[in-house]
Amino acid sequence: MAAFYHLSDECEATKPALSSTLFNSKTPFEPFKTVTVFLVEVSSTPFAPNHPSTQHFNHIETTLHLPHPINDPEMELFRTKEGTIIAGFVIFFPSYSTFLSKHAFHVEDLFVREGYRGKGFGGMLMKAVASQAVKMGYARMEWTVTTWNVASHTFYEKLGAQILQDWRIFRLADDALLSYGRSA
Ligand SMILES: CC(C)(COP(=O)(O)OP(=O)(O)OC[C@H]1O[C@@H](n2cnc3c(N)ncnc32)[C@H](O)[C@@H]1OP(=O)(O)O)[C@@H](O)C(=O)NCCC(=O)NCCS
Repeated sequence: MAAFYHLSDECEATKPALSSTLFNSKTPFEPFKTVTVFLVEVSSTPFAPNHPSTQHFNHIETTLHLPHPINDPEMELFRTKEGTIIAGFVIFFPSYSTFLSKHAFHVEDLFVREGYRGKGFGGMLMKAVASQAVKMGYARMEWTVTTWNVASHTFYEKLGAQILQDWRIFRLADDALLSYGRSA
C-alpha cells in the first residue's frame, strides 16, 4: 500500500509494530468497538467449513468464474496458514458526530492488491462495513482520499458517497506535535 502511494520511504509499519498495536491480546476483543479489519481471502478451491473467519463473524462467501488465472507474483507473501491468499483489506474504527449524537465509522484504509482489482472485492469490503454500520445504528462512514487518486473517487462515487468539497484535513505530527504537546 505504501508503494501504491509512493510513500515507501515514509512507511514505519513493521509486522511486530502492527501486531502489538492492532491485535494486542491485552485489549479486550470487542468487534467493531475498536479497530476492525475485514479481509478478502481468495482460494481456487472451496473454503474449509472450519475456516477461522466463521468463528467470529458472519463471513460473506462468493464464487467468481474468471476467464484467466490471476497474475499474482507476490502470492506466497500473502498466503495464510489455511492456504488462502489475502487479496485486500479494509480497516476501520468508530468515530463520533456530536451534530448527530451518533457514532460513525472512520475507514482508515481500503486496499485491493493489483491483480485482484475490478472484480468486485473493493465493493464487497465497503458494503460489509456499511452493513455493519447500519446494523449498529451508526450514522455514517467517512474516509480521506488523496486528490490524485481519481480512480478511487469514481469507485466511491459509484457506492453513493460524496466528496466534501468544503472540508480540509489538518494534521499535527512529528516535531510540531512534540513541540506543541510538550510546551507548557
Ligand atoms: C479503489 C479500489 C479499492 C477499488 O476496489 P476494486 O475491487 O478494484 O473495485 P470493484 O471491482 O469492487 O469495483 C466496484 C465498482 O467501482 C468501479 N471501479 C473500480 N475501480 C475503478 C476505477 N479505477 N475507475 C472507474 N471505476 C472503477 C467498478 O467498475 C465497479 O463498478 P460497477 O459496480 O458499476 O461494476 C482498488 O482499486 C484499490 O485498492 N486501489 C488501490 C488503492 C486505493 O486506491 N485505495 C483506496 C484509497 S482511499
